[in-house]
Amino acid sequence: MSVLVEPVRVPILGKDTIVVGYGMIQSIVAEILKDLPSSTYVLVTDTNIAKLHLSSFHKAFDDISKKLNIETRLLVYTVPPGESSKSRGTKAAIEDWMLQNRCTRDSILLAIGGGVIGDMAGYVAATFMRGIKFVQVPTTLLSMVDSSIGGKTAIDTPHGKNLIGAFWQPERIFVDLAFLETLPEREFINGMAEIIKTAIFWDKNEFDRLENNVDDFLAAFTNRDAETGIVDLSSIKDTLHALVIGSIRVKAFVVSADEREGGLRNLLNFGHSIGHAYEAIFTPQILHGECVAIGIVKEAELARYLGLLSDSTVARISKILTAYGLPISPADAVVQKRTNGRPTPVDRLLEVMAVDKKNAGAKKKIVLLTGIGKTYEQKASVVADADIRFVLSPDVVVNGTSQSPKSQVVVIPPGSKSITNRALLLAALATGTCELQNLLRSDDTEHMMNAISLLSGAQFKWLTNENGDDVLSVTGHGGDLIAPTEEIFLGNSGTSARFLTAVATIAKASDKNDSLVLTGNSRMKVRPISSLVTALRNNGAKIEYLESVGSLPLRLTADEHLKGGRVELAATVSSQYVSAILMAAPYAESPLTLSLVGGKPVSQPYIDMTITMMASFGITVVKSKTEEHTYEIPTGVYTAPAKYVVESDASSATYPLAFAALTGTTCTIPNIGSKSLQGDAQFAVDVLAPMGCQVTQTESSTTVTGPAIGGLKPLASVDMEPMTDAFLTASVLAAVAHDGSNSTIPTQITGIANQRVKECNRIEAMVHELAKFGVVASELEDGIKITGKSSFADLTVPTGEVHTYDDHRVAMSFSLLAVVTPGAVTISDRKCVEKTWPGWWDVLARKFGVSLEGYEAPAAVKAVKQFHPNNNKSVFVIGMRGAGKTSVGRWIADALGQSFHDLDTYLEEKLESTIPEIIKKDGWEGFRQEELNVLKDVIKKHPVGYTLACGGGLVETPEARTILQKYIADGGIVIHIHRDIKLIMEYLTYDKTRPSYVDDMLGVWQRREAWFAGCSNYMVYNSDISKPEDTAKMQKSLRTYLQTITGLSSLHSDLVAKPRSAFLSLTYPDVAVAMPDISAITAGVDLLELRVDLLRPAPNASVPSVEFVQEQIGLIRKHTDVPILFTIRTVSQGGKFPDDYHERAVDLMLLALKLGVAYLDVELTLPASVIAQVVERRGFTKLIASNHDFSGTWKWDGPQWASKYAEAVSGGWCDVIKFVGFASSRSDNVALEQFRASHAAKPLIAINMGKVGQLSRVLNTFLTPVTHPHLPAAAAPGQLSVGEIAEAAKLIGEL
Ligand SMILES: NC(=O)c1ccc[n+]([C@@H]2O[C@H](COP(=O)([O-])OP(=O)(O)OC[C@H]3O[C@@H](n4cnc5c(N)ncnc54)[C@H](O)[C@@H]3O)[C@@H](O)[C@H]2O)c1
Ligand SMILES: [Zn+2]
Repeated sequence: MSVLVEPVRVPILGKDTIVVGYGMIQSIVAEILKDLPSSTYVLVTDTNIAKLHLSSFHKAFDDISKKLNIETRLLVYTVPPGESSKSRGTKAAIEDWMLQNRCTRDSILLAIGGGVIGDMAGYVAATFMRGIKFVQVPTTLLSMVDSSIGGKTAIDTPHGKNLIGAFWQPERIFVDLAFLETLPEREFINGMAEIIKTAIFWDKNEFDRLENNVDDFLAAFTNRDAETGIVDLSSIKDTLHALVIGSIRVKAFVVSADEREGGLRNLLNFGHSIGHAYEAIFTPQILHGECVAIGIVKEAELARYLGLLSDSTVARISKILTAYGLPISPADAVVQKRTNGRPTPVDRLLEVMAVDKKNAGAKKKIVLLTGIGKTYEQKASVVADADIRFVLSPDVVVNGTSQSPKSQVVVIPPGSKSITNRALLLAALATGTCELQNLLRSDDTEHMMNAISLLSGAQFKWLTNENGDDVLSVTGHGGDLIAPTEEIFLGNSGTSARFLTAVATIAKASDKNDSLVLTGNSRMKVRPISSLVTALRNNGAKIEYLESVGSLPLRLTADEHLKGGRVELAATVSSQYVSAILMAAPYAESPLTLSLVGGKPVSQPYIDMTITMMASFGITVVKSKTEEHTYEIPTGVYTAPAKYVVESDASSATYPLAFAALTGTTCTIPNIGSKSLQGDAQFAVDVLAPMGCQVTQTESSTTVTGPAIGGLKPLASVDMEPMTDAFLTASVLAAVAHDGSNSTIPTQITGIANQRVKECNRIEAMVHELAKFGVVASELEDGIKITGKSSFADLTVPTGEVHTYDDHRVAMSFSLLAVVTPGAVTISDRKCVEKTWPGWWDVLARKFGVSLEGYEAPAAVKAVKQFHPNNNKSVFVIGMRGAGKTSVGRWIADALGQSFHDLDTYLEEKLESTIPEIIKKDGWEGFRQEELNVLKDVIKKHPVGYTLACGGGLVETPEARTILQKYIADGGIVIHIHRDIKLIMEYLTYDKTRPSYVDDMLGVWQRREAWFAGCSNYMVYNSDISKPEDTAKMQKSLRTYLQTITGLSSLHSDLVAKPRSAFLSLTYPDVAVAMPDISAITAGVDLLELRVDLLRPAPNASVPSVEFVQEQIGLIRKHTDVPILFTIRTVSQGGKFPDDYHERAVDLMLLALKLGVAYLDVELTLPASVIAQVVERRGFTKLIASNHDFSGTWKWDGPQWASKYAEAVSGGWCDVIKFVGFASSRSDNVALEQFRASHAAKPLIAINMGKVGQLSRVLNTFLTPVTHPHLPAAAAPGQLSVGEIAEAAKLIGEL
């Protein structure tokens, strides 16, 4: 039970105005009424919060004001939730409403809500009557620790967020943690990003606290009452309180020291410079805190690239963000899913960053971290664009090095993975505290640490040592493991799974349970472990397979320990089994003898590594003197050395050493020497020395000096079996190794067959990529042969990118060759080095003086699918019987100048009997077969010049469906005549001449309609036509339609050539009302726009159904042949269609294409995947790439419109561009005309909304949106009619 936390007051700007507590509504209201008296309180909140908390606030207000006998009123204004309420529009609406309600300068504004409410309402307070008092009651975690504190208020504009606002300090900030009980989980995590951010740049202890409390926090926040959705925060109340206060104190301190953001306050913006840039692209799908999390990691990487921050600190930062469920990269799967894979071009990110308020003019400023809790300056620092670009870019351009031949460099590569995991386990099993240094932080490490924690095996604590390196302090429990209730998940970490299977046999039962489960991901669940399990079982362990025999998951019974004595193990599969038993053996009941049977054990170096490391932890393994491959392990407890330095990874060390070899410089690896535990440590002695390098190796260090430039010698033959991973490094050296003769001997590397099944087929990859440098190489059965160039100058500069196959070793090797290639070399996907050496590029740049540039390939302009005009190719017509195939089919034939053929008639003529007769004779099956034959017949006999109407049941035959689909795929047209089922039924009951359906009509209709839809690429909606004049109109619009779908229409080129053209919007929930008047309102209009988003939604839905939309188009076509522009306008673009209903939007747009509309509006803000689906099926419908600026803040001479235009044109799919801005002054129209004049790649519709913008509607000549006096309302403010435009144009001499 946690006691109610006492409210705590935190000072800011010299006043105790922040109050933090739990469950304070009563006291909040009382304090407001007493200390901030007013005749009017204006409460602003959003509808979410109003639903949950408004009534209790209201009640408290009424009760207390009555009790205190205070005459006052409480006005409430609620806005929709979400960032879109942080707009000029909302602000203006509130202001108007306040004025209407006679609010005065003494009114007090109460902002109850998240950052959106606080920022926006705060800005209202700042400007209403030149500023009124206001109170913040933050209700989200983010607003509690961040936005409510500091007095920054703002609204958004499309130029960026928060660009218009004011500093306006609230009178009070009441932080009531009880609000968090109703906060959605994602919002909580979102707020954690700011808390973590503050800890990172300011407070190491707080950071430790966060690292240590992840599990408790997440547990509390996911434990939600199923009914009320409320979480029980009692278990973390105190920690939460401490954490929130801690974060608030930092912010309050910084703000007090630097209210107007001169320097120190910059620090709060850590992670935001880059975070905001991602936010600009990802909003609204990705939340602020989530973008900040990505920004934090990128800015930490930037500090690392500048040589200020260590690899391990970057890893630690990434780790904690991930642990709290935050994304750390735009490539994060959740981010990709939520944004539908929206790209984040580096140029755009930099463009957004250019408007950051911290910047000093054109110079970008970013907070640079030097460690947890420390920054480079007490403010943001100036950073060169090139460095930011590098960090944001996926690829890298490698230039030469500025290093002089005399230079000497010391490099410590990241720790070895094998040694890291052994060290972790041994330190946990030991008594005492051990500081592990140079640990590799990888997934494997995380799984191992997590497992040890679950087994209560040790306490971990990250510390920073005197050199500023992160070290892990492990306090082991001496082998006292306790079986956890929770399953131990090991991902795909092979070492963890193997080691723990043996080591967990020493676990004891707890009072809760007496067994434990080891499990992994799906890949892990098929990796073998049976020889190890068998050996352990034979020695007393009780292990059960829970899924497939021979793999994880396993259940180990606690208290069933190893007995000791003799253990036999087949060690020909994996040395990890051997290491596992060796490390567990000291805790057996009696000394254990491990005998490896079945032949020579694989990877002896790893077994030796384990034995050496066990010795460092106080247990000496004795090799049997009498038996081969047999080890004796005494019982005992490991004792931890005070400090254990994890050796650097020897494979990684080959890269810096090879750099020295290539450039004639000197490089030292201070922690790998002749006594190294790793096979690859021999690389310097066995490969580099024979190639001509000078190598000095001590027991614990290696130094290499390269020969004079161009002096590397080839190796006639080198067996790299003991260090297979290093062959890639050797290969790039071999590429420039030459013996000085005219035909140099090649270097032959063997013993590396296993490298074909690593991240990629590395031998093949090296041969392929070396060729790009003009280096001749070939594959050997178990190796590679490379003929070196005689000088660097002979290397070819690759024209494209060097491909890296998502393989860190390929990338690092080629980065070396790139340095000596005479020209810039682009290496793709530079991030793949992160698997083993995240800071490799930073080392290359800082330590080796290599000049690097970030590079991003221009967005691949996907070849836009070409459609070919139909050229009189025969057209199929399908549909239900009674849908009108014959009548509409004849009209189609007419319009296309084709002959009409009814396949039923064709069949009857062919077989010389009627269909009922055929069915009677051969049954339905026989009839269907004949029908199919006819289909095949006509395709062969009548490929051109025919309109072919198929029988309604044809699609029942699968083969017929395939044939029709193939016809479409080959560029043919199949039109589905669709008619309402009710009309069909009516029709069929009159027609007795036809054979009756075998099953019920509705069932048949539903089944077949789906097939018709799947076997057609176009559709005609056959409306009910009763009057003959309708028939004539219908035929006319069918003609327009057929011209569109066959690619014969000249509409678009006609409109482009026309001096003036216009379209009219139908803005009705049902266009039927406009039909009686349609010819009048379409006079002088070239297109009719159907605003689909404004159509009546289906019952209980927010968008109209496909059926309704198709009916509406049928209806329009029945009444007029004016071609249709089909538009779905989303909310954020000023329409009514929900922004995130992507699938529904696609369905409707594909419907429009099937219905062959002349133009289709495609919003540029739609996800690329949506646009791609439309473009893929567009046929001959013209696509209008549209963008609207509804905030009215984009300037025609600003970067946004230009960048949008480039985006539209570069997509390669649009036929027209439509940009709608806003004019607040006449000069906006002038700027627009300049924009129009300088952007002529595509026909452009560009207008300004608003009264002042009307001029632009007159000056726009191509497809100007117009209204008509008969319409209920103009579709947009400022819209003019055709007549008005003509008149105005005449007046200004434009006509
Ligand atoms: N002024 C500053 O210094 C500053 C600092 C950081 C962020 N911000 C701004 O803050 C905004 C983001 O604020 P936010 O993250 O609080 O978002 P928000 O205000 O949009 O709230 C997030 C969501 O949670 C709901 N919600 C709020 N409190 C709730 C509760 N107690 N229970 C249930 N639902 C609740 C809201 O209705 C909304 O849907 C951004 O506009 C950002 O620019 C400002
Ligand atoms: Zn923020």
